[in-house]
Amino acid sequence: MDKEGSQLIRGLEGVVAAETRLCDLDGANGRLAYCGYDIADLARQATFEEVCHLLWHGELPAAAQLDRTTLALIAAREIPRELVQAFRLMPPGTDPMRALQAAVAMLGMHDPDATDNAHDANLKKALRLTSQLATAICAHHRIRSGQEPVAPAADLGHAANFLYMLTGKRPSGVVGKAFDASLTLYAEHELNASTFTTRTITSTQSDLHSAVAGGVGALKGPLHGGAGEAVMRTLLEIGEVANVDAFSDRALAEKRRLMGFGHRVYKAGDPRAAILRGMAEDACRQSGQFKWYEMAVALHARINKAKGLIPNVDFYSAPLFYSLGVPVDLFTPVIAAGRIAGWTANILEQHDDNRLIRPRADYVGAGRRAFVPVARR
Ligand code: ACO
Repeated sequence: MDKEGSQLIRGLEGVVAAETRLCDLDGANGRLAYCGYDIADLARQATFEEVCHLLWHGELPAAAQLDRTTLALIAAREIPRELVQAFRLMPPGTDPMRALQAAVAMLGMHDPDATDNAHDANLKKALRLTSQLATAICAHHRIRSGQEPVAPAADLGHAANFLYMLTGKRPSGVVGKAFDASLTLYAEHELNASTFTTRTITSTQSDLHSAVAGGVGALKGPLHGGAGEAVMRTLLEIGEVANVDAFSDRALAEKRRLMGFGHRVYKAGDPRAAILRGMAEDACRQSGQFKWYEMAVALHARINKAKGLIPNVDFYSAPLFYSLGVPVDLFTPVIAAGRIAGWTANILEQHDDNRLIRPRADYVGAGRRAFVPVARR
């Protein structure tokens, strides 16, 4: 307890800081549901568009409502040409997450409802930004790779269109569905660091684009969304299944932090990792790159046996994304393309029942002392 009776809880671990109708995360039993629907059912049976509607409105859409949401997402795909121009002017080698953060800020400059925090305006912005974020990620990637951006295809759903804008090729139905399900699995996860960031920014009555730009910054870190990219770099470093044991022994001896393992809330298992494992197995087999799946399974078993650590959502998404052809440094932007649904739903919820988020800090610095003018220091 500090002198004002508050308790210091480092990392806010275990602190409940909001009420939500969005995400029911049962860490003890490894269960996760959005608005009451189990994540496995949503990943298997719903499209990302349905999940967006669910998170924004609290209910799964009826057919006509889904048509409206889908058409509105398609209509919102275009990004301002000034943003495309800005991508061309960015220094070569600009990190895609840094470019994305700048893009979200710029999209706010062009959004007609940018400063309107009313519920309906936020809903419109949530939908527009979800759609534009995908286009922005792909356009930046194409430009940095010396290619022209690919115009969105109005006959493709959100996930398949993302892969089309990224590669210029229409994905197969199986690949499109796997990518769609991954976006769903990443769509929402309660008060993780990036979502908490968006809520904190929103709680000052700032606007949706500013909050999402902050969320992108928080997601970028390797202890959060950046872990997936780090997992793939680890698998690439290992190179072959036969090298897993030697790598693990070395990493354990060096007490390395193993990316894609461990979770602040799930202690028994991350349900998303179990689903992604099956998806990674199928995708790696179908793309002829089964060794990445085999390597991940071997590493999982070895690390779990040695340290009892469980794989989190970012572990099996790494071989999955890799086998779907997503460049390694786009793994985190892809997670943002899914999490935008949850960020914006949390922003709506926070605006609708706001209280400024303002915790305290326990001061441990020097005691009160007399000021000494610079000439006498
Ligand atoms: N590798 C090695 N040891 C680990 C790992 C890991 N990935 N995760 C936890 N541990 C160990 C710690 O060393 C610590 O051991 P100790 O008690 O002997 O010191 C113990 O487990 C507890 O670890 P903490 O860091 O205190 O647990 P915390 O709840 O803060 O960590 C976190 C959660 C940050 C996710 C951590 O597990 C980690 O760094 N994982 C790797 C990064 C990662 O995969 N992040 C993605 C998370 S999911 C997401 O954000 C999308």
